[in-house]
Amino acid sequence: MTNFVAYNIEDLRRIAKRKLPRGLFEYIDLGAEDYIALINNRQVYKKLKLKNRVLVDVSERSCSTKIFGTNLKMPFGISPTASAGITWFGGEILLAKAAQRMGVVCTAATSAVTPLDEIYEAAGGEHLWFQLYMWNDKELRSRFVERIRDVGYKTLVVTVDGPVGANREHNNRNGYSMPLRYSSRMAGDVLARPGWIFRVLLRQYLRRGAFKKENYPAELGKKLSDMSVKQGQSHTKPDSQCWDDIKRIQDIWPGNLLIKGLYSSEDAVLAAKHGLHGVILSNHGGRYVDNAPSPLQITAETRAAVGKDFMIAIDSGPRRGSDIIKAVACGADLVMSGRPTLYGCAAAGEDGAYRALEIFYEEMDRTMAQLGLNSISDIGPQIFWNPPHWAYPPH
Ligand code: FNR
Ligand code: LAC
Repeated sequence: MTNFVAYNIEDLRRIAKRKLPRGLFEYIDLGAEDYIALINNRQVYKKLKLKNRVLVDVSERSCSTKIFGTNLKMPFGISPTASAGITWFGGEILLAKAAQRMGVVCTAATSAVTPLDEIYEAAGGEHLWFQLYMWNDKELRSRFVERIRDVGYKTLVVTVDGPVGANREHNNRNGYSMPLRYSSRMAGDVLARPGWIFRVLLRQYLRRGAFKKENYPAELGKKLSDMSVKQGQSHTKPDSQCWDDIKRIQDIWPGNLLIKGLYSSEDAVLAAKHGLHGVILSNHGGRYVDNAPSPLQITAETRAAVGKDFMIAIDSGPRRGSDIIKAVACGADLVMSGRPTLYGCAAAGEDGAYRALEIFYEEMDRTMAQLGLNSISDIGPQIFWNPPHWAYPPH
């Protein structure tokens, strides 16, 4: 049990900044190039103003919802994040446990530093989804999808926004890569955080050895270790991926299948046409295309384009419970985010990740009451005061 006080997600972020080596914190916290998308992701949430309705009995209110038949305490999910285990030993497991405890979704990532079966054993079930990166090698990829299925995961999220690596200059400057390499700069950053060395690095070395992407098959691992520390590796970032690759996955995946990383209503319509179960509108938290719109800005037009029954999740930017309400009002079924629970995990392991979820829940519940809303179905664009055209497009 770690003592910490956090009243909001920004508090958790500040604690994480103090506890993590700089290169690791910046890898998590920052975005691509000039951080235009990263900054815009927050600004658009802040700009939306909400109207209240008074003298409404809200004593029986609920934030709960259902996604793919699973009850959720609130419409929130943890987005997949590579290397969550660098924030705390076994970080991926801790995120999954925190989500299970709260009753929200958690998405384990292909690029985790904890094996996918260990995450499932610790906190498996309907709340635990898995995110797939499509590797170039189709045979290896198919075998990996079969492995995910056999472990027990029921919902697969295919991330499709990374045909080439992102341009993140801070990572190059800091010498951040996975596997971690200890350049003099990175070694200096690590030595400045002795607590992290004991909490994370030593335990990792004693129990698992060096940090590495645990789910990558040995064949790929060999190619990865031959590669430069820079991102944009051709073996793991297939710039030839297309809808046919999704079709191949559909042939072997029996469960729910979503794609993540799109931000156009046209692609969401295509996803529905291809028989997918949903989409996660995402600009990867401003970590890929610096000129991408915020997913929030295209949610309403996407909802209008795909109709009311197709599942739309969105991530990239929510930091307050009121943001969840804003995204739902634009037409999202599920609101996701990756950084807040990573900040929490860096601050205090599972308790910190849980605290992040608790903050979202408490803030959402309070805002529902303040606005006179009793259930998710009460939330719609009518709650916006003077909305921009993208939040409430004319019908
Ligand atoms: C990510 N994200 C990500 N997405 C994905 O599909 N696979 C991955 O392996 C990762 N890895 C990853 C690592 C870290 C450190 C971060 C912060 C993010 C993107 C993630 O799923 C999500 O889209 C963003 O985190 C959304 O932005 P916010 O809401 O967290 O700011
Ligand atoms: C990232 C990759 C791993 O955002 O998706 O760091």
